This record gives sequence, C-alpha cells and structure tokens, in this order.
Amino acid sequence: MQHDEHPSTPHRDVLVIGASRGLGAAIAETYADRGARVVATVRAPSGTPLHAYVERTGTPIDIEEVDIDHAEQVTALHDRLSGRHFDLLFVVAGISLAAQDAIGADVATEDFTRMMLTNVLGVMRAVETLQDLVTPDGTIAVMSSGQGSVTNNTTGGFEVYRATKSALNQMFRSYAARHAGERRPLLLMAPGWVKTTLGGSNAMLEISDSIPPLVDTLDAQHGTPGLQFLDRTGEPVAW
Ligand SMILES: NC(=O)c1ccc[n+]([C@@H]2O[C@H](COP(=O)([O-])OP(=O)(O)OC[C@H]3O[C@@H](n4cnc5c(N)ncnc54)[C@H](OP(=O)(O)O)[C@@H]3O)[C@@H](O)[C@H]2O)c1
Repeated sequence: MQHDEHPSTPHRDVLVIGASRGLGAAIAETYADRGARVVATVRAPSGTPLHAYVERTGTPIDIEEVDIDHAEQVTALHDRLSGRHFDLLFVVAGISLAAQDAIGADVATEDFTRMMLTNVLGVMRAVETLQDLVTPDGTIAVMSSGQGSVTNNTTGGFEVYRATKSALNQMFRSYAARHAGERRPLLLMAPGWVKTTLGGSNAMLEISDSIPPLVDTLDAQHGTPGLQFLDRTGEPVAW
C-alpha cells in the first residue's frame, strides 16, 4: 500500500462525507490505497465497517464524525478541519426510506421530509460549508444517482428517492452557476445500482464493480473545470 510519497491519484488529500459503510467506505478505502491522505466521516463514534477496516488493516484513514442533517455539526467539522486543504471533497451520504411508496397517499410526510433533508439540504449544506477547505483547482463531487435523471425516468418507481436526487442535481447546478469561472471540477456521480444496504441484494453490481471505475473517473476529471453529471465510467448522464 502506498501512502503520501507517490500517490497514484491526483487527489492527494481527500475528504469523504458519509463513509461508515457501503460506497462511501469503499471510496475512502480506495483513495487510501492510492496513497491519498484521507479524512472520512461517520455518524457513530465506533463500530462501523470503516472503523473495523481501519482497525483490521492499519490503513491511516482519519475518521471524523458528522451528521449532515444538523447544520451545527457540519460547522463544527469545518472548524475542526480548518487549516487543512483537500483536493477532493466528496459528499456521498444519502438515504432511501420506504422506497417502494409512490407519491401521494402512500408516502409518510416524515419519510418525505427526512429524505429531502438528508439527500438535498444536508448534502448541499456540507458542500457550502466545507467548500473553502477545497483547493482552488480541487474537485467537489456529490453522489447523485441515475435515478436523478428526469430525462431517463420512463418507468417511475422509487419516486421520492428519485425526486431527492433530481433536486440535488438542480441545487448543485445552481451552486455551479454561482461559481461559474472557477477552476474546480463539479461532479454529480451516478455509481450504478450497487449491492449495499441502500441498493439492496438484488442490485446489479458489487461495490468492487462500481467504486474503482468511479474513482478512476473522478481522477480523470481532475483539472477539468465545471459541472458534469457522469456515470461511474465517465459517460455523461442525461439531466
Ligand atoms: N447503492 C446504490 O445502488 C446507489 C445507487 C445510486 C446512488 N447511490 C447513492 O450512494 C450514496 C451511498 O449509498 P450506499 O449505497 O453506500 O448506501 P448505504 O450503505 O446505506 O450508506 C449510506 C451512507 O450514508 C450515511 N448517511 C446517511 N445519512 C447521513 C447523515 N444524515 N449524515 C451523515 N451520513 C449519513 C450512512 O451513515 P450511517 O452508517 O451513520 O447511517 C452511510 O455511511 C447515497 O447517496 C446513495 O443515494 C447508491
């Protein structure tokens, strides 16, 4: 395993938000394997799969805590990290509650509100609060989904989850418009349908099918300014 001296990634200092397990943990582990210095956030103080990975392998990932539903926790994380700079901020955290419910009578107001809070407001709050820790040509990425594509929604299903990712795309597009002319790549990523707690056991892909190519795509976009919505292989996704 390489660390620090000759990283095999242009993203040498990486901050991953939502990395306790699933795709976020795999992204943090992949960047550490590529020799990046990685700070990765979880919500539980101990016992997550990321904690277990770090204990088992000795990989030097710095584990921080933040719940993006709470603005004051995001601000506190920012303050703890002040003085550090990151070449990549990747906000991966997201939830899917009562996924099969259609909008209308089926969806509980509380589920709708919690999904919008985490997947849209929480993610954008993390971007807005932490972006000044990113170098001027560093990358800001957020985990969207192919389900966030309005154009490609010909089947319905996962209606509220889809809507949260479409809203996230719209919000990130507004962020990009406000930051036009800056040098940072701004990436909305679609990882494919992956076997995780969120993706479920029927998903098409293993984490090992999704994350190495997705990280390759992020690395290939280093230094290319502006907004893109990309799948894990680097192909554009229709908005
Ligand atoms: N799996 C797929 O097929 C798929 C497809 C497209 C997009 N995505 C997106 O990929 C991202 C990761 O999903 P996953 O499949 O890896 O799911 P997962 O295994 O359920 O992991 C979700 C992660 O988000 C964290 N999280 C949830 N709410 C949070 C909050 N309020 N503050 C901070 N962290 C929070 C979780 O932390 P805790 O352990 O503390 O709950 C966990 O680390 C999500 O944005 C998801 O929408 C997944």
